[in-house]
This record gives sequence, C-alpha cells and structure tokens, in this order.
Amino acid sequence: MKKVYLETFGCQMNVSDSERVATSLQSKGFEITTQQESADIVLINTCSVREKAEHKLYTRVGEVRNAAGRKPFVGVMGCVAQLDGETLFQKIAGVDFVVGTRAVGRVSQAIEHVLEHQDTYIDLGERDIDYEWSVAENQRHSPYVAFVPIIEGCNKFCTYCIVPFSRGREVSLSASEIVRQVLEYRRQGVKEIHLIGQNVNSYRPKTESGLEEFAGRTPFSRLLRAVAATGIERIKFTTSFPRDFHADIVDAINEHPNLCNWVHLPVQSGSSDVLRRMRRGHTVESYFKKVDALKDSARDIALTTDIIVGFPGETEKDFLDTVAMVDRCGFDSAYIFKYSPRPGTPAFAMKDDVTPAEKTRRFRELEAVQKRVQRKRLERYRGKKVEVLAERVSARNPDDLAGHSTCHKLVNFPASKRLLGNIVNVRIVDIKSNTLYGEIC
Ligand code: 5AD
Ligand code: SF4
Repeated sequence: MKKVYLETFGCQMNVSDSERVATSLQSKGFEITTQQESADIVLINTCSVREKAEHKLYTRVGEVRNAAGRKPFVGVMGCVAQLDGETLFQKIAGVDFVVGTRAVGRVSQAIEHVLEHQDTYIDLGERDIDYEWSVAENQRHSPYVAFVPIIEGCNKFCTYCIVPFSRGREVSLSASEIVRQVLEYRRQGVKEIHLIGQNVNSYRPKTESGLEEFAGRTPFSRLLRAVAATGIERIKFTTSFPRDFHADIVDAINEHPNLCNWVHLPVQSGSSDVLRRMRRGHTVESYFKKVDALKDSARDIALTTDIIVGFPGETEKDFLDTVAMVDRCGFDSAYIFKYSPRPGTPAFAMKDDVTPAEKTRRFRELEAVQKRVQRKRLERYRGKKVEVLAERVSARNPDDLAGHSTCHKLVNFPASKRLLGNIVNVRIVDIKSNTLYGEIC
C-alpha cells in the first residue's frame, strides 16, 4: 500500500480540500501517513495569498529532497499549483506533479501516473460533475468540528488579492447538498460546522433546491435558516464581505440559537481612500454601520477582522485612521498583515512605496493597539458563563481540555477527557492575551 504524506498551508478552504483529497486517496487504497520519512508520495497543499506563504513551498520541497533515506515523489496542489502551473517544474527542482485548485478530485490519477511512468504530470482542469464533497470521519481535522464549503472562488477582485485568480469565479453548492452533508455530520457526532467560502455572503446556488421553505432577503440568510433547521448544535460561517453583509444575517442569528455569535468581517483599512484603491466596495462609514447593526443585536456577537498595513500610497494619516478605526470597532481579534505585492493582481502595477521598515513599524503599532482593545474586550467575559465545545486535550497542560466558545474564543479548563465532544458550561476565571481560562460550572 503506497503511503501519502499530506501537508497543508493556508486557509480553511485548503484544509477542507486536503481533507477531501485524503478521503478520496484512502478510498482508492492509499494510506495517509503522518510520517514524512516513510512516505512514497509527499503532497503539499499551497497558499499564495502573501509572498511569505509562497516561499514556504520552496523551503519544504528542498527539505523533502534533501532528507536522508527514501526519495518520495513530490506533488504540489492548491493556489500556487493553479497559478504557476507548468512553470513549477522549472522553478523548483524535484516537483513531480502539479494539481490545480479545481482538479483536486483527480489527485489519485496524478499519483498513479507518476508511479507508473516515472515522469511529470499536470492537471489544472475543472471539477468533475460528480465531485464528492463529503469527508470521511477519520480524515476530518477534528471529530467534533467539520468544514462545509458552500461557495468556491471569488468575483470581487480586490486589487491586492490573488484569490480570484487562484480559485476562479464564484460557484455555489446546492443548498440541498449542504443540508445533506450537515445531517450526515450530525449523525456522526459532529457538534459544530463551519460554512466556509472566500465570500459566503455571495452564496447564490443555481436552483432553489433545499431553500424552498426558508425565507430571507438573500440566499445566504435563507441557507443559514435551512442549516439551522437541521438541529446541529453549532453553526459558524466565514468569511463575510462588508458590502454583502446585510441586516438579515443578523436577524437569522437573532432567531436561531444554534447560529453562533461570531462574525468575521474583514475591513482591510480604516481609510476610505485606501479602501477605494483596494476596490473593496465599502467605505469606513458604511463598515461602521454594519458593525453598529451587529452591536445592536440582543446576542453578544463577537467581531473579528483582517487588516492590511502598507498598501501602496498608504500615508501616515491613512494609517492613523486605521488605528482610530480599530479603537472605534473594538474587534475581538484582528489578523494584521503587511501588504505583499502579488504578481497578476491590479495592485501589482501600483508603486509599492511603503518601505519594509515602515510596514513593520505600522504592523507593530497597530498590533499593540489591537492587543489593548482585545484585552478590554476579553475582560467582559470575566466571571461570565460561556458554552464551550470540549475539542481536545490542551497542548499546554494534560489535565486541561481546550475548545471554542460559541463566540469562537479558545477556552482552556480543567476537566476529564470523558467530556471530549460535549458542550459544557465554563465560568471564565482568567484572561490570557488570546485565550480564556475557566472552570466547569
Ligand atoms: N498582502 C497582504 N495581505 C493580503 N491579504 C490578501 N491579499 C494580501 C496581500 N496581497 C490578506 C487580507 C485577507 C486575508 C485572508 O489575507 O487581509 O482578508
Ligand atoms: Fe480576495 Fe477580496 Fe475576494 Fe476576499 S473578497 S478573497 S480579499 S478578492
């Protein structure tokens, strides 16, 4: 039995693709191994959203090639595979096969080809019509949490972003298929599902199938209601896009306790000038309105975001507006990135005029402000009871379990392993910089 070692970089969509690739390889008689040294094939699922992520591929292929012992075949899938295609064979010595983002259903064919013919192979084709979206129980990243893709690709073309090129145009899955998967996961004991997509609010399936009985202003809010009706304990969704994030999403959250109180709504900048050049389709003011609608909810909805510093032309004033915006919004957490020019995107043609040192200064300054904001936000949980899904034994302390709250905070608490997979009430007694600590109550 040939052994495949699968390594994943990047977003949840990549994690989800890898889970499905592992599921399909396993069903075709391959063994998925966690030991790279014993693998016949090393498959790297790549990310191209920033240059640093892309460099990881170069480093990893080098390491695999130079490792002592047997020399496995090396395959590259994911966003770098899709974007670089054929050129990867020249760019990186030792790559044997390349599989694009929509060809992941045919990884086994690529592997069989290289094993049999001992030469290179590339597939950048489209998805098969009968592509299998389900993930086997033993290939999910968690026994209790499952990722359910609802929309692939992106049509927004924000000027800095490579995703519309690496993942193609938006394609939505049918609601009846999504509901079927959620029901199946529920039967298997999954407690929490994440509806995932680059821009979930744009969800627009070809047919009404599965949505017929559910009202709402947008197909996405109708889907939320349809999934809530499955009775699965917890539903989270990511990523949202400010311009398409309408009030009916908050209404759906208010109506259904199993729609969790967490929204990830990337803002990217606190300057409307920069947002215009990013072609985000929202202004700082329109973003504030969405945030206010969230904060008006009777549920305590946690808000997280993404921010880019050092976009071309970002002035000190623009940056200070971003700092003020972070203070005003009170994000529960924020992923901050230094702008990284991506070949092929519209912003690549703009002058990358914020120096690396200045990007680092802005990054650090914003991070410090966000840390302060976050600390204050987290303080509101002290003494409060939160519902936590006991997902795993804590990496730090074998006597503690770790899991996420409904508001997507990581919570550690002392408890017996027997509680794994249960949703438990935890009273928060301590606040760390990114996590909460509590006791079962
Ligand atoms: N440079 C820096 N950050 C980027 N992101 C996307 N493209 C770039 C880029 N070229 C960030 C955005 C996005 C997150 C997933 O990655 O903030 O929301
Ligand atoms: Fe990229 Fe913008 Fe699409 Fe998000 S919405 S994936 S940032 S193009």
